[in-house]
Amino acid sequence: MNIQTANRINTVNEYYFSKKMKEIDELNKVGKKVINLGIGSPDLAPELGVVKALTDSANAFNNHAYQSYKGIPELRYAMANWYNSIYEIAIDSNHEVLPLIGSKEGIMHISMTYLNEGDEVLVPNPGYPTYTSATNLAGGKVVHYNLDESNDWDINLKEIEQLISAKTKLMWVNYPNMPTGANGNWNTLKQLIALAKSNNILICNDNPYSLTLNDTPKSLLELDPNKKVVMELNSLSKSHNMAGWRLGMLVANQSRIDEILKFKSNMDSGMFLPVQHAAIKALELGKDWYKSNNLIYEERRKKVWELLDVIKCKYSKNQVGMFVWAKIPESISNSTSFSDLLLYNTKVFITPGSIFGSKGGKFIRVSLCNNIETLDEAITRIKKFIAQ
Ligand SMILES: Cc1ncc(COP(=O)(O)O)c(C=O)c1O
Repeated sequence: MNIQTANRINTVNEYYFSKKMKEIDELNKVGKKVINLGIGSPDLAPELGVVKALTDSANAFNNHAYQSYKGIPELRYAMANWYNSIYEIAIDSNHEVLPLIGSKEGIMHISMTYLNEGDEVLVPNPGYPTYTSATNLAGGKVVHYNLDESNDWDINLKEIEQLISAKTKLMWVNYPNMPTGANGNWNTLKQLIALAKSNNILICNDNPYSLTLNDTPKSLLELDPNKKVVMELNSLSKSHNMAGWRLGMLVANQSRIDEILKFKSNMDSGMFLPVQHAAIKALELGKDWYKSNNLIYEERRKKVWELLDVIKCKYSKNQVGMFVWAKIPESISNSTSFSDLLLYNTKVFITPGSIFGSKGGKFIRVSLCNNIETLDEAITRIKKFIAQ
């Protein structure tokens, strides 16, 4: 048998965390008890009423059928209301919001809906790796734009102007930014939208971190109220501790939603009704919900700063989101070898910034999704290794 994979599969590698978790599992199987400070998967529980809404709904015998591809109207209404209460953005719940099985799948849907072979896509470096892989899988061409520490990880409009060509179709923007923790410069983003309008480029802001350690949650749609070029992905994964539930949304104008639904409805079906009922409950939570989570993340962040001081990494204390992004010591050549050094000698795993692109090569990213005891244990292990 000589069965070849499609060429498109050669444009991507297995997702970094998928591979690394296998390696960590192998270490754990031989008793190494790895502390994973890598992935941003909230360890805190969803709100109790949200889980009850799921179980109550799952217990009803008639809630198990296929669901509408666009989600139930009540869920779309709750999403629109949430956008209004969090970001003060008005959304038509019937036409301008599409529930997603996580925002990650939305990145693929958007890429498949808009990219022809060779269409160019502006992707941040460093940036979430899925923008690159979805572009490649859809046959587009990734054109990286740089985010620089010296520019507070802001978009450099001069560079963007130079990178735009007749083939530029789409640009991924991600503020609050992962992995750098930058909050975005509203003035730059305003000019960027004007540039996109004059060059006929779609801008998609990926916005899953606006409610984590951030006093001013914003939506990029504020700068494009008629949703002419801006679309936005959002997610309950981080803000509501529901990463495994797979709950996201796309907000865009009616034509965009209809175009993307044309692809999505051929790919998957509507999400499980009890998950939709629970999502409605989650979206109705008041400000206290976010506040109580953030108090916990704030304490953890102080511990992470302590850990970073021990390994002599430099970081800004003004970061937002679920991670701390830090520069490795000058003496260490790259973040991958630094991450491996820590993993093999202390059994503490920290994400190397290199997986987010060449601009992340001198950085590491530490997740806040571990409790204080675990972070203390990580610090103890690292101190012991350094003292050897
Ligand atoms: C920047 C960014 N976008 C999107 C996602 C995917 O989130 P979701 O769980 O909604 O698919 C993540 C997850 O880590 C992320 O960091």
